[in-house]
Amino acid sequence: MIEVIATIGEVRKIVEGWKNENLGVGLVPTMGYLHAGHESLIRKAVEENDRVIVSVFVNPTQFAPNEDFDRYPRDLENDKKVCERAGADLIFHPTAEEMYPADFSTYVNVTKVSEELCGASRPGFFQGVATVVTKLFNITNADRAYFGQKDAQQLAVVRRFVRDLNMNVEIVACPIVREKDGLALSSRNAYLNAEERKAALVLSAALAKGKELLANGERDARKIESAMRRIIETEPLAKIDYVKIVDAKTIEPTADVKGTILCALAVFIGKTRLIDNFFLADAYKPE
Ligand code: PAJ
Repeated sequence: MIEVIATIGEVRKIVEGWKNENLGVGLVPTMGYLHAGHESLIRKAVEENDRVIVSVFVNPTQFAPNEDFDRYPRDLENDKKVCERAGADLIFHPTAEEMYPADFSTYVNVTKVSEELCGASRPGFFQGVATVVTKLFNITNADRAYFGQKDAQQLAVVRRFVRDLNMNVEIVACPIVREKDGLALSSRNAYLNAEERKAALVLSAALAKGKELLANGERDARKIESAMRRIIETEPLAKIDYVKIVDAKTIEPTADVKGTILCALAVFIGKTRLIDNFFLADAYKPE
């Protein structure tokens, strides 16, 4: 069975051995309750690296007091199976105390790219993410780290602090894995009852509408957003947090669709907040 390591010291020692043998190290940061989306990241990491570490840590600093930290789903036994069959070499599964000693005082705060979308609805969220991901990079000394496009703004935030702080790690983006009916896989889908699971299809339906309008040449971002909102509003269990078209790199809202854009949404289905998105590369503005 795959090794589960709980301490920073032990991970460092193992990685040091690998580095002495000139082995390339990949890292897949997760909060566990692994599904096929996580597994696709792990498999890509296994393809591209000699050794792969999967971190499983429900990071307290990225949850606000009113959020779901305590009830976030956990299943380490299944996580071990997923990691093993995908070919990972070890799981780093620290306690909160191991990562955050009582007098912990240092945070990574990324401005600009973390301010719109999820940053606007979840204050402190990206500071928690940037801090824990920085720690994971330092602990594992990984050559490459794998992130899903599912969390598109998270990816932009990670890329930004890696560049700004000159971190020596390559960030690899992986496509969104979906259920057959279009729902993006998420550990939080476990919160949905049968009725909510059906209602959750409005997220991918709204994105399909946005894609369709773009394919037909619509380049007015506000018009596309409105059409998408109207689709979500047909579902009584859905409550929109945001529906927005932004520049993919800066995460700043754009009036006209041009360059590479990110079309992203966050919607509450009952009490469960779900996110989804798509990118459109090299969108052009017709003359
Ligand atoms: P978590 O939600 O567990 O996601 C871990 C990684 O899996 C993220 O990079 C996320 O984008 C990716 N992922 C999740 N669902 C996916 C899907 N359907 N398709 C493809 N990739 C998917 O994101 C976090 O954890 C945390 O914020 C973390 C980065 C670990 C920091 O605590």
